[in-house]
Amino acid sequence: MIKAHYPTDKFQQISTPFYYYDLDVLRSTLSEIKMLDLPENYMVHYAMKANVNPSILEVIKNTGFGADCVSGGEIQAAIDAGFPASKIVFAGVGKSDWEINLALDHDIFCFNAESVPELEVINELAASKNKKARVALRINPDVSAHTHKYITTGLSENKFGINMEDLDHVISLLPKLTHLEFTGIHFHIGSQITDMTAFHNLCVRIEEIQDIFNTKNIEITHINVGGGLGVNYEHPNHFPVPEFETYFKTFRDHLGLKPGQTLHFELGRSIVAQCGSLISRVLYVKEGSTRKFVILDAGFTDLIRPALYQAYHRIENLSSEKPTCLYDVVGPICESSDVFAKDFMLNETKRGDLIAIRSAGAYGEIMASQYNLRSLPQAYTSDELK
Ligand code: LLP
Repeated sequence: MIKAHYPTDKFQQISTPFYYYDLDVLRSTLSEIKMLDLPENYMVHYAMKANVNPSILEVIKNTGFGADCVSGGEIQAAIDAGFPASKIVFAGVGKSDWEINLALDHDIFCFNAESVPELEVINELAASKNKKARVALRINPDVSAHTHKYITTGLSENKFGINMEDLDHVISLLPKLTHLEFTGIHFHIGSQITDMTAFHNLCVRIEEIQDIFNTKNIEITHINVGGGLGVNYEHPNHFPVPEFETYFKTFRDHLGLKPGQTLHFELGRSIVAQCGSLISRVLYVKEGSTRKFVILDAGFTDLIRPALYQAYHRIENLSSEKPTCLYDVVGPICESSDVFAKDFMLNETKRGDLIAIRSAGAYGEIMASQYNLRSLPQAYTSDELK
């Protein structure tokens, strides 16, 4: 089994808090996908928004994956990391002109367009460069992902994509937008999805949508089903690798591809979450009147997921093997929401102990802020600390 390894002796010399990425866990995760021997017409684009650490990008790029970007900054980071532009997809409800121009200049694989005004602007900017932009329509399939409301994206109440009832109208406009080449359809129903029925339901909806295009004799050359596969935050040691096999099998079994069609995935969290930990030091153990607080030098400025989504992250004391006690594990930020876990069983803890907050490789470092004028966390990889 792949297990994160912590070089605690090396950690002693590094100032905390910092992110630690175990690249062996990342490599093993990627090789689990490779071992599935996916059909040749399946293409995975790594969702850059999860983590853009250059060492991580290097490992992922070397597997041959493409990149899924949601900003000009991410497009540039993908290009700089060596992802071929021909494997870059670009989504987002609010693409600025400079971002569209950057994507046009690099001739990326495809824009995932989310509204009529956006299609018109891409058409106009492509025309001024005398180019044709490849576009897929991001369709809001109104399929529930049964996940946290902040990371649900595929319901008609969400801001993302073109609603089903507007689809006919949008399709009728396409022939007028002569600097666009319509190539595909795109979906993304949400994130941290562990129940595969959500993806099965998406497949059923995609088949219905394909029929709409078929009856209009419009060819779809690629289908992009987005990302969203969840990871096991409770037991990262026992389940370090997400359910890739069942995930891809769901699409293999329920989404029939036509000859020449390609199927695209935009996986973020499932690729990088388990290789990362936020390493922090205990500043104080404070006896409250009803509870004991472990006060860390890391706060929600370093990892915002617990405060923003009430997300659970496993916490381990790397310096203690004493019997466990019940603690509230909190950060130093001046906000009551700066809590990593309440009533958490941790080996008896004292000032100076090193703490690992697990499964923090996705949406951790990249969502860090400088609130309270704190420094952004540094990051180290297992390769560097060998
Ligand atoms: N494609 C699109 C269009 C997306 O919006 C997202 C994530 C992905 C792919 C990648 O999804 P993944 O495979 O990572 O689930 N900050 C939140 C997660 C936000 C996800 C936003 N979109 C968190 O920490 O849980």
